Amino acid sequence: MKPCGKLLLAMLLFISTGCAQSDETPAQTIGPRFHYETSYDESGIKGEAIGWGKQVPLYKEYKDAPKTRLPEPSPSELSVAKALQQRKSVREFSEAPLTLPQLSRLLLSADGLTQSRGGIARRSAPSAGALYPMEIYVIASKVVSLAAGLYHFQVSDSSLELINEGNLDDALYAAVNEQAAFVDSPVYLILTARFDRVTKKYGDRGYRYVYVEAGAVCQNIYLEAESLGLGTVVVGAFLDDAVNGLVAIDGRDEAALLLMPVGFPAE
Ligand SMILES: Cc1cc2nc3c(=O)[nH]c(=O)nc-3n(C[C@H](O)[C@H](O)[C@H](O)COP(=O)(O)O)c2cc1C
Repeated sequence: MKPCGKLLLAMLLFISTGCAQSDETPAQTIGPRFHYETSYDESGIKGEAIGWGKQVPLYKEYKDAPKTRLPEPSPSELSVAKALQQRKSVREFSEAPLTLPQLSRLLLSADGLTQSRGGIARRSAPSAGALYPMEIYVIASKVVSLAAGLYHFQVSDSSLELINEGNLDDALYAAVNEQAAFVDSPVYLILTARFDRVTKKYGDRGYRYVYVEAGAVCQNIYLEAESLGLGTVVVGAFLDDAVNGLVAIDGRDEAALLLMPVGFPAE
């Protein structure tokens, strides 16, 4: 047989073996394999069942950062049913700044403390095992009485911790890859997840929970924005390393999941 004939035969064999395998095994690419291996059956998780990682504190803290207490929040104006009905993604924003009470309402509704039960401070979004892996960073460009800069929402005492003062529009524009660069919004929220807060208990299945929880926080923000007369859009397409770099997280234990510009809709 000529060399090229052999190569063709080898390729055909490889393809047919590959096809047969994919009929038998449930998953070949990482997405379906991840879902399969993190599925439970009667004996537990189907993949490797390791509770890994260290115990991570419930609250991330920037100890030396200057703090701004979030003031009494603006009242919410709409019923949940109306907010759900009216909600839509907004991608163009007016020049109007947000007030601190509006930002306060938005963050407290997103994932703020609510009531304490069983000795655990609960939040507005549900969380597997009440481990609360979500963190929220705020890039404030136009908020009345708040210096422009990057802040961390400190859930434990409802405050903003200043990480970097100054205008971050250029870095943000680069990080969203110009695909969805709604950087003219007065506020830009970065939702990240501390995966290591949940993997100690749930192993890799914890990743599933974290993605679900990001969705719950995101919808809280959509609905509260609607109630305050604001608009937002969730941006999933961004350059991960660039956004992680912007908020100085490692992209492994903690990584950016979603971005949400917020502001008054343009006329
Ligand atoms: C996980 C996720 C990622 C998204 N990523 C983007 C994005 O990168 N850019 C964008 O313009 N919209 C993005 N969207 C918004 C959707 O395009 C929008 O929700 C959809 O078109 C429905 O429109 P509505 O929100 O106005 O109902 C995303 C939505 C979700 C849920």
